[in-house]
Amino acid sequence: MAETKTQIKSSLIDKVGMDAPLALDETTESAWIDVIQKMDKVYADLVHYQVELEQKNAELEEAQQFIRSVLESMTEVLIVCDIQGRILQVNQALEDLTGKPESELLGRPFNELFGLDSQPLVEQFAEKLGNDAIVDCEVNLVTLEGEAMPLAMNCSSRYDVKGRLMGMVLMGRPVGELRRAYEDLNKTHSELKQTQEQLVHSEKMASLGRLVAGVAHELNNPISVVFGNMHALKRYGERINQYIADVGAHIDPTLQQGLREKYRIDRIESDMGPLIEGTMEGAERISKIVLDLRRYSGVQKEKPEPFELKQVVLTATEWVIKAAREKPEVDYDLPHNCEITGRQGQVHQILINLIQNALDVMEGHQPMRLSIACGRDGNDAWIRVQDNGPGIAEGDMNKLFDPFFTTKDVGKGTGLGLYISYGLARDMGGNLSAENVPVGGAAFTLRLPLNGEHDG
Ligand SMILES: Nc1ncnc2c1ncn2[C@@H]1O[C@H](COP(=O)(O)OP(=O)(O)OP(=O)(O)O)[C@@H](O)[C@H]1O
Ligand SMILES: [Mg+2]
Repeated sequence: MAETKTQIKSSLIDKVGMDAPLALDETTESAWIDVIQKMDKVYADLVHYQVELEQKNAELEEAQQFIRSVLESMTEVLIVCDIQGRILQVNQALEDLTGKPESELLGRPFNELFGLDSQPLVEQFAEKLGNDAIVDCEVNLVTLEGEAMPLAMNCSSRYDVKGRLMGMVLMGRPVGELRRAYEDLNKTHSELKQTQEQLVHSEKMASLGRLVAGVAHELNNPISVVFGNMHALKRYGERINQYIADVGAHIDPTLQQGLREKYRIDRIESDMGPLIEGTMEGAERISKIVLDLRRYSGVQKEKPEPFELKQVVLTATEWVIKAAREKPEVDYDLPHNCEITGRQGQVHQILINLIQNALDVMEGHQPMRLSIACGRDGNDAWIRVQDNGPGIAEGDMNKLFDPFFTTKDVGKGTGLGLYISYGLARDMGGNLSAENVPVGGAAFTLRLPLNGEHDG
């Protein structure tokens, strides 16, 4: 590698740009050579350092890029703080949730990010610095929309290379999604439970219906026997009375009077008529009840038959009002000639439910006013039951027809009345709807096809 004197000399001439051979003696020349060699070395070192620095810079940038990509891909929220709790670094997830860029957050106290209700917990993070880490502590982050987003937060202390406490690192996992999924699951579970209870209930009702229908059927025969016998007894009684009168006409009046007193004939004669009439009336009532039971047991599906709406409405209203403690004023608007073909028993059952509900909600309101109207509308008939009660709460409107929805006290309502009525109306090809009326109170409208059931 040693350069010859001539080479160095020519290089020196190049560098200093003068005619060196003319000006330089031996000593000066060797001094210059020394200087130039040192300059070359320094220059080579500089180039080397420059290359090394660039290499380190590239590595550093790569490492930074790696960390940035990791932070950006994290769905968890990351907050790095100094020992005073001021924010030193955050990740993209936090920027997205709070809607604030990192530049706006840096240097701010970290607890500003959380809601008021979370402040006592957040304060504990700073207090526990240097001690045990905090795991899965739930705090509410204030989001871009100003809402509280629940985060399961972990907090641990941060140290420098010499082991000195430098601050803390907070990592939060949004639990809203998880909670929503859990709530959805819970809702579906309770709906399933309700449906199951409803199924059990309808099966119970169906068996009860079959039982009632069976008993009613069995009662029919003995009732007919009672009826037939009572008619015969009435006739026989009249004949025996006649016989006694005829016999009495041919015997001694004193003997007759004695015999009548002995066998209490006067009492029997006066009791016989009312006893027979009473028994027949009772039998008639039993037979009517049996007929109703069979009709409402719902087991044998009633056949659609023509009937007058007005008549069913009046009977149903009378039934409910008769049993009510407080009687309402009733406004009827029922045209005479509103005949439809349908299942009378089921229409009756729906009306009973609607009128009973109306009386229940009006309890305590004075005056209690019930308005019942019916009419035709194209191919449909409608019946409207309106009360002047408190009306239906906004949030309850779409739950009214759900099974088991009730606002009545435990034990007072099962919440099945409207659910069953809705099903019956649908079965008949009609529908049942509810609305609040502007003057106050609620109105339920039952619509039915005029001529029997549509398909479905
Ligand atoms: N006329 C009305 N005005 C205001 N709310 C009503 C009216 N009718 C029904 N509701 C509301 O709808 C709910 C459900 O009624 P539904 O007839 O299905 O059940 P219920 O009357 O509570 O119990 P059940 O009829 O089984 O004894 C009632 O608890 C009540 O909150
Ligand atoms: Mg009811």
